[in-house]
Amino acid sequence: MVWNQYGGKEMIRFFSRSCKRLLMVSLILTGGISLQATGGSPETVSGKQVYDRFCIYCHGEKGEGDGPAGSLSGVETGDLSNRAYMSLLSDQELYERIAWGEEKFPYLQMPGWRSSLSDEEIRAVVTYVRSLAVDKGPLTTPSPEQRDRKFRTDPLERGRIYYLHYCSGCHGKSGDGDGEAAKNMTTRPVALSNPGIASTITTENVINYLTTRKQGGNVRNMPVFEDEFKDKVDEIVLYIKALAKAK
Ligand code: HEC
Ligand code: HEC
Repeated sequence: MVWNQYGGKEMIRFFSRSCKRLLMVSLILTGGISLQATGGSPETVSGKQVYDRFCIYCHGEKGEGDGPAGSLSGVETGDLSNRAYMSLLSDQELYERIAWGEEKFPYLQMPGWRSSLSDEEIRAVVTYVRSLAVDKGPLTTPSPEQRDRKFRTDPLERGRIYYLHYCSGCHGKSGDGDGEAAKNMTTRPVALSNPGIASTITTENVINYLTTRKQGGNVRNMPVFEDEFKDKVDEIVLYIKALAKAK
């Protein structure tokens, strides 16, 4: 069958498996999944229940950041169980990060949960997250404050975070075209950090590519990005070139 020869079966398998998972990630990312968190009165809100329904996909059972959706989307899900790091954030600061996510704290590539969770539910999950803390020795990574400052002042750091969030799921963390979400794709995502390819990349051609629906008359495998995304492309390109330079 010609259809099979051209990978039709493979494509269908890809769409029914990977796409469903990707769709789940994007639903979660946009807050589109609306699960009844507890259904009970405020006093019965269980932080564990909220965590298991809304957070575990990415942050993992113990908060170590090893949930399945975390690696699929390519973002780096931090370790909520590291006591040295978490103790630098007050309950109120944790509350705000969970409620607002990247909207107020853009160095965290996580959506805010305030449209899905009530005030009580967020407070309950803060308490639950605290209970996951384990002593892992002194802090060896930047503090929340240092990360926030770096994001605001360093274009390359913004490029890194945008790239991880929006591109690495397919193009791979190091830009080799081997992202988790692209494993079963029939068209391989381009190895953007290959020095030969990276040297031809400009902000203009990436913007054109990202916002065009079709490529040479064919529907492409890559998603189309909205016009608002244009602002981030300069920094993403900067980061792709830095990845290529490090090769
Ligand atoms: C789609 C994946 C995803 C889901 C679902 C998710 N998170 Fe996150 N979360 C992230 C990522 C990615 C970060 C950023 C981690 C980093 O940069 O260190 C983050 C950061 C955080 C932080 C801030 C840590 C810091 O370094 O300041 C807290 C607290 C947090 N998440 C709690 C939650 C809670 C509670 C839930 C459920 C209500 C939740 N997350 C659901 C992906 C997710
Ligand atoms: C869902 C997977 C996916 C995501 C996410 C993705 N890409 Fe792609 N990309 C692809 C695939 C597959 C191709 C190969 C051509 C095709 O089928 O569209 C591609 C091709 C490209 C090309 C074309 C290179 C060339 O000249 O042929 C560029 C540039 C590119 N991607 C940049 C990006 C950037 C920047 C991001 C993040 C903002 C991104 N892509 C996110 C899958 C993806």
